[in-house]
Amino acid sequence: MSEHPSSSPQAEQNGAAEEPVFTPRKNGQAQEVSAELAAWMRTGWADTEIREVEPIEQAAYTAKRRAALSARFPGERLVVPAGGLKTRSNDTEYPFRPSCDYVYLSGDQTDDGCLVLEPRPGGGHDANCYLRPRSNRENGEFWLDGHGELWSGRRYSLAESAQLLGLATDDVRRLPDALRDAPDAPVRILRGHDAGLEQVVAGLREDAAEGGEAAAQRDEELAVALHDQRLVKDEWEVSQLQRAVDSTVLGFGDVAAALPDAEATSERYIEGTFFLRARVEGNDVGYGTIAASGRNATTLHWMRNDSPVREGELLLLDAGVETTTLYTADVTRTMPVSGRFTEVQRRVYDLVYAAQEAAIAAVAPARPFTEYHRVAQRVLAEGLVEWGLLEGPAERVVELGLQRRYTLHGTGHMLGLDVHDCARARTEVHLYGDLRPGMVLTVEPGLYFQPDDLTVPEELRGIGVRIEDDVLVTAEGNRVLSAGLPRTAADVEAWLAERLPRS
Ligand code: GLY
Ligand code: MN
Ligand code: MN
Repeated sequence: MSEHPSSSPQAEQNGAAEEPVFTPRKNGQAQEVSAELAAWMRTGWADTEIREVEPIEQAAYTAKRRAALSARFPGERLVVPAGGLKTRSNDTEYPFRPSCDYVYLSGDQTDDGCLVLEPRPGGGHDANCYLRPRSNRENGEFWLDGHGELWSGRRYSLAESAQLLGLATDDVRRLPDALRDAPDAPVRILRGHDAGLEQVVAGLREDAAEGGEAAAQRDEELAVALHDQRLVKDEWEVSQLQRAVDSTVLGFGDVAAALPDAEATSERYIEGTFFLRARVEGNDVGYGTIAASGRNATTLHWMRNDSPVREGELLLLDAGVETTTLYTADVTRTMPVSGRFTEVQRRVYDLVYAAQEAAIAAVAPARPFTEYHRVAQRVLAEGLVEWGLLEGPAERVVELGLQRRYTLHGTGHMLGLDVHDCARARTEVHLYGDLRPGMVLTVEPGLYFQPDDLTVPEELRGIGVRIEDDVLVTAEGNRVLSAGLPRTAADVEAWLAERLPRS
């Protein structure tokens, strides 16, 4: 938790203080404020309190999620911080992104917030969201402090936030004391987001002779439980993922239409074109866009995006809009810059497509998570054997994993608030578990022939193809959320032709 200046209720009441009570320092320099200016800045402001605030639409869902977590940890105090601003350089900060578990449980996105589930004596928990309140006008905080509303915009008051989130709220500056004064109960904190608060909790544990490894283990169990819980999305989450995907589909269309301009510039133009859509329709992108032309497509995490985009090459675009509610899409299309695949490009594309088709068909409830990966690898291995790149039979290739020289990565992962969602979930319900309705995952086989790989014919070197879609497991099977984008080579060409009028 970051340091917040505390406001003094006394100062709030005696508006005639000679000197500002609040004297912040910036870069070690005290700010000089005359008593006249300080007094004047206290006055002449309209009452802007909003009396009725519409609750966020996910409030009913966050309540259910808290209830499920409460049932998992009866009698324990659970502390889930949002995290705070991170320094980018000197006195500038990265845009704030709250911790996923905090957003999942509260619906709130403000920095330095913290959700506490307080065990009730009779069972269950009371939820309290600790937030930074509106800035104090009387002590000058609102205009003299970097957190002040004059600098960073109006915040909801605690009362407004309570209506908005459907949660009790309190002043986050009181949280350390609230934790110290709370009745005895085992505490767990979600680590990695608020070092200050972790220290407070560690202090309490030392008091209770409960520190060290055992405490770390207990905190890890909380993190794992949250990722387990997030594996299955509720209907509101699915609607948000569909929003993210729909916006992403538009972004890919924008890129297709911009390809003639991109040729004159670089992958940056592609990245920027997609980002514009993300900014206009949502909050951001959920991960660094991969705009990889030509041989760059064989570098899995190509995010430099600084190469020219050339006629005759393929463009691999892996990008996802993150909604204002922080759910992200994760979609890849590989498209010929000039509108038509060459024969060899198409051969590679068709094999990846066949692997993806087979893998999508293996996404269904009660099927092992590993199965669609296995199915995709098998199809790719068979193709590579048929082309003479690997010595068969395909069973041997797959058993030894030899195809991985060209397939490189897994066939997919969970998707949600994080692009690689629920990574800490227990393996028995995730990687080695069965698919369940409500899970959302990517299906993304690929083939990558490195430019310097002497084991493949020259015509293949420097070709990288991935096709990635976002798929919901349904009671009957699956639904491809990103079906708005073309997948077959012919459909990709037709889709490009509509957007890329050429002579
Ligand atoms: N964009 C990262 C991934 O596909 O996993
Ligand atoms: Mn991706
Ligand atoms: Mn992915």
